[in-house]
This record gives sequence, C-alpha cells and structure tokens, in this order.
Amino acid sequence: MVMKILTVGGGGREHAIVKALSRSGSCEIYSVMAKKNPGIVGLCSDYLICRETDPVAITEFAIKSGAEYAVIGPEAPLEAGIVDFLEEHGVACVGPSRAAARLETDKAFCREMMSKYGVAGCPKYRVFHNSDDACEFIKDYDRDLAIKPIGLTGGKGVKIMGEHFEKDGACKYIKEIGGQVVLEERLLGEEFTLMAFVDGVHLVPMPLVQDHKRAFEGDIGPNTGGMGSYTMPDNMLPFVSETDYNKALSIMKDVVAYMKSAGTPYRGMLYGQFMNTSEGPKVIEFNARFGDPEAMNLLTLLKSDFCEIVKKIVEGTLSEADVEFEKKASVCKYLVPEGYPDSPKSGKPVEIGDLGEAYIYYANITEKNGKYYTQTSRTLAFVGCAETLKEAESIAESAAESVKGGVRHRKDIGTLEVLERRIRHMKEIR
Ligand code: AMP
Ligand code: GLY
Repeated sequence: MVMKILTVGGGGREHAIVKALSRSGSCEIYSVMAKKNPGIVGLCSDYLICRETDPVAITEFAIKSGAEYAVIGPEAPLEAGIVDFLEEHGVACVGPSRAAARLETDKAFCREMMSKYGVAGCPKYRVFHNSDDACEFIKDYDRDLAIKPIGLTGGKGVKIMGEHFEKDGACKYIKEIGGQVVLEERLLGEEFTLMAFVDGVHLVPMPLVQDHKRAFEGDIGPNTGGMGSYTMPDNMLPFVSETDYNKALSIMKDVVAYMKSAGTPYRGMLYGQFMNTSEGPKVIEFNARFGDPEAMNLLTLLKSDFCEIVKKIVEGTLSEADVEFEKKASVCKYLVPEGYPDSPKSGKPVEIGDLGEAYIYYANITEKNGKYYTQTSRTLAFVGCAETLKEAESIAESAAESVKGGVRHRKDIGTLEVLERRIRHMKEIR
C-alpha cells in the first residue's frame, strides 16, 4: 500500500527530505511550505502554501490529503506544537512534541537538563532572565563567553564576547535581545555534527558532518544558518577519534534516555552539534530536526528507503539495519544572496548553468516564468558525491561557479586545505 506522507517546510533541507522520500517510490508526498519551493512542488502530489507555524491549517491539509505520516523539517513548527496537533488528529509524526523540542527551542532547558541528569560534555554556563544581572556577571568575568539567546534565532543569534565584541558590546547586545540569555564558557576546538534517527527509545546515528557557520572564507564574519558542509568516505571525520565519536554518541543516547524517563520521549531527527575540545567533545547545542545544510549531504547519501525509516520511527522499531549510507565523500555548497546575512539583497536574478554531476536543492528562491530570483535567506545548494573529498568538492564547486547573478558562495568549503587546517588545529590543541 502506498504511504501518504506530509512534509512541512520549504527550504533546501526540505527539498532534500522530499527528494529522498520520492526516491523510495513507495510513498505519495503532500507538502506544506511558506513559499513555493520549485524543487518540492515538482515532486509532491499536492501542496499548500501557508504559514509553517499554523498547526490548524496544516492539520486540515493533512487530513484532506489522507496523510498518515508527517516529517517536520524546520524548528519553528515544532515550537508551535505541530506534532502534538497532528498526532491528536491521527497523523504519526517524525519530529518531537513541543515539550521534547525544547532541547532546541529553549537553550536554558537544554543546559539544565544536561546538568540535572549529569549528561557529559556540558560547558560551564549561567542562565539569566534579565540584562542587568547578565551584565553584572560579565563585568567580573575575564574570559571569552558565548552569548546565546534562550529562544530560537535561526542559527544567527550566538555572539562571542572576545571576538565579535568586548564587554561593553556584549552588554549592549544582551540588552538588545531582551536579557533572556545563556552565557557559557567559550569552547575552543573543531566543530562537528552528529545526527541520528530516534524512535523514542532507539537511536541510529548518521555519518559525521562538518558545517561552516561563518559567512566568509577562512571562517570569518557573522554566523549564518550554515554556508555548506562535507562528509568523508568512511562516514567519520579525521579530527574526531573513535573515542571522541563514542563519547558524542553516548551523550546523544543519554539525552534520549533522559527524555523518555522525563515523560517526553524524543522522536525524530536529533542533531548534536559538538565542539571537539582538548578534553574531548562538548555539546554546543542540540537541534530537534535535521541540520540545514547537513541534511542535504546525508539524504543524498542515504541508501535505505527513507519512507521505511519513517515507518519504523513511528512504530518505535528502528534498528541499525534499517539505515545505510553510501561510503562516499559529499560536499554541499550553499549560494546566498549578496549581503547575506546582515543585509541580503532580494529580487536579484539568478541564472543556473551546467550542473554536471551535482545534485541541486532549491531553498529560498522564487521562480517566475521560468526565471529565478533571490529572496533574503539562503538561495540554493549543490551537493557533489564521489569516492574522494577532492572530487566531491570539485563537482559542487563547478556547479556553484556556473551560477550567474546576485549570489555568492564559500569556495573553501570541502577543500583539502580547509580539512588539513582542521586536522592541524586538532593536533595543536590535544
Ligand atoms: P548555535 O546557534 O548554538 O548553533 O551556535 C552558533 C555557533 O556559535 C556555533 O556553531 C558555534 O560556532 C558558536 N558557539 C555556540 N556556543 C559556543 C560556545 N559555548 N563556545 C564557542 N562557540 C560557540
Ligand atoms: N546547520 C546548522 C543548523 O541546521 O542549525
């Protein structure tokens, strides 16, 4: 019998989700998105353009379409309680309930849960609910600090005191964002992403990925939603040892066990962002969904039937045997509007050239009469997959280079120079 699956979200990550589901051939897809994604609309049986945080409209569409399952892409619908709402109406979801999504949507909850349950890898932190107290704390603090708004910010809200600004700037920023912050020790090391499929009890990890949060080549400039990412042919990363990997995995498993014991079991994709420090992996944050861009690497490499994985997750019967990835390198490069992230220029024409062997994922892009235009967020992405990182990078880079118009991308993502720098850095701090 054909499975009917609802997807929520209209970005590059969701195009990759829909593409992976459509490869299966055993499901029909119904998609909800805030803006029409030209990649998604060509792959789904029907779609609805609506606010992704409107559980009522989305659930009505799910019922009308006969969808029995749903896969939620972004965090905002999770925070709006989309999963609780859909499940009340008989649609089984891959994505956590509002309470379980607090792992991502409430940074204070995440840290307090880690301390309370003794989960390893928690940096030293303090939670503040008003700017006076936070600024008072900063006055007497003489090391670098990460300043994190407690709520969602689309990956752009974290600022580092000691890099983006000093004490005065930090205090001004805390006031600007309303004083609800987690202040935590600045972790130094190399970042990596470990994502997993979770069915409430069982956790099955995906290959390691490294994202590039900073806007510009050489990892400088403001944080973004992520400019691109890569994976290696052995599904690991050369600056993450087996011991580091096992520690990170066990942290994720502890979190899943805690969420279950607290009566808010976690179901969906769990995203662990780690800093591999001199003392091993520490948790930067958890996200309650696939990473974007990381999902584009991993869903392109996914060999198993994604619709079957969806079914196993909602049944609570997921096992390692259900999830297999190609043992290949992959490189994902995002093209972003000029001026992104601080003052992105929208409405600029974009002409896509020769894709070669690259996979294309549309994100925040408008199509009008066969022509494409930028919007204010990340525009589109290319993924190259190959036996080596070098080949994968060159596939993604030539596709990205072929695009003309008001966009730019980071040429250094997935290059051997960057990889070697990461490895050297890890050796230096160990
Ligand atoms: P997040 O929005 O939590 O993913 O954070 C965005 C970026 O801020 C991360 O990718 C890190 O580069 C940086 N960051 C967050 N927390 C810390 C920390 N405690 N120490 C150093 N960098 C951090
Ligand atoms: N790539 C980072 C994120 O999805 O939050």
